[in-house]
Amino acid sequence: MLDIGKTATWLLRRLNPETAHELAIHSIAHGLAGRGKPDHSALRTEALGLSFPNPIGLAAGFDKNARAVRGLTKLGFGFVETGTVTPRPQPGNPRPRLFRLVEDRAIINRMGFNSCGIDKFCQNLAPLFRPNRHGQVGPTDAPLGINLGINKTGADPLVDYPALVGRTKSYADYLTINLSSPNTPGLRDLQAADMLARLLEAIQTAHPDRPPLLVKLAPDLEDEAYAPILQAVIDGGADGLILTNTTLARPTSLKDPHRDETGGLSGAPLADRARHVLQLVSELNKGRLCLVSSGGIETGRDILERLKMGANLVQIYTAFIYEGPAVLTRLKQELLHEMSRSGIRSLTALQR
Ligand SMILES: Cc1cc2nc3c(=O)[nH]c(=O)nc-3n(C[C@H](O)[C@H](O)[C@H](O)COP(=O)(O)O)c2cc1C
Repeated sequence: MLDIGKTATWLLRRLNPETAHELAIHSIAHGLAGRGKPDHSALRTEALGLSFPNPIGLAAGFDKNARAVRGLTKLGFGFVETGTVTPRPQPGNPRPRLFRLVEDRAIINRMGFNSCGIDKFCQNLAPLFRPNRHGQVGPTDAPLGINLGINKTGADPLVDYPALVGRTKSYADYLTINLSSPNTPGLRDLQAADMLARLLEAIQTAHPDRPPLLVKLAPDLEDEAYAPILQAVIDGGADGLILTNTTLARPTSLKDPHRDETGGLSGAPLADRARHVLQLVSELNKGRLCLVSSGGIETGRDILERLKMGANLVQIYTAFIYEGPAVLTRLKQELLHEMSRSGIRSLTALQR
């Protein structure tokens, strides 16, 4: 029998990457991409004071403008992070800016925060919510994260990030401040511990009632830089870290002719560095902050490995691009299999 999901993914891979992306968002938004099965209870995970049906999230950058949130959660993600959204609309970098490195199971992107801007973003989200006596009720039981960024020109991070938190806090189960896209000049400088401290203080002062707050970091910092950043995040009252965004490094193993394109590299060749950064931070963290691992996750074994290393949750992007929604069924089956091989009865038991 024809598997519509697999056929669509096969077709999408033959299109120009941005056209394929646009089509994928459109079909997911209109419920044409299918629906995942209910999750096995052993995959339920607690983090950030929230309950997740499974620990596999969609990383930021796929649904930048919050157009397909409901459809994405229906596919079976344990949580969905939408954005990066910027204060004002901006077109991002000129095309081409997205490259598949098929042989390397990788992507290079220099999208440059193409965003519809916060006004339109909130208009897209608002119909998914209905108020109840406790506040707002979201679209599904999979938590929703919103990833916040700044414009390429005219940005004032100490004003812009708190303002974005104010605009999105009633929709988000958690918020992420993205300080690690390699495609916005100067953004990564905000990861310096003193700058980060000022930024978190500005957010905390303006919005003491905010949802849990995560900071997304680059994999390209010196190893020694992560300790002061971790301390600044803890002292600043934030709740977790996403480790990591895409890398500017180009491992010598890359084979695809696109390997020298400018931009951030994601997928399989990022896995070693993302794992190393997780290990490093996890040892320093001692369970204080929630850690979300992202970078080159392709199998259930990868997921269990990251969880055992100290991650509370994981996120995928590139594997979803290559395999489509079927990746979720496979990852969950493999994860359950790996758990039973290791004698782990549930993820909540693992994280205790
Ligand atoms: C095309 C593309 C666009 C992305 N856009 C964003 C973004 O807007 N904000 C962000 O925080 N991360 C963005 N990312 C990074 C992903 O969220 C993720 O952290 C990274 O790709 C590593 O995961 P992966 O190896 O599973 O792809 C983007 C990645 C890709 C491939």
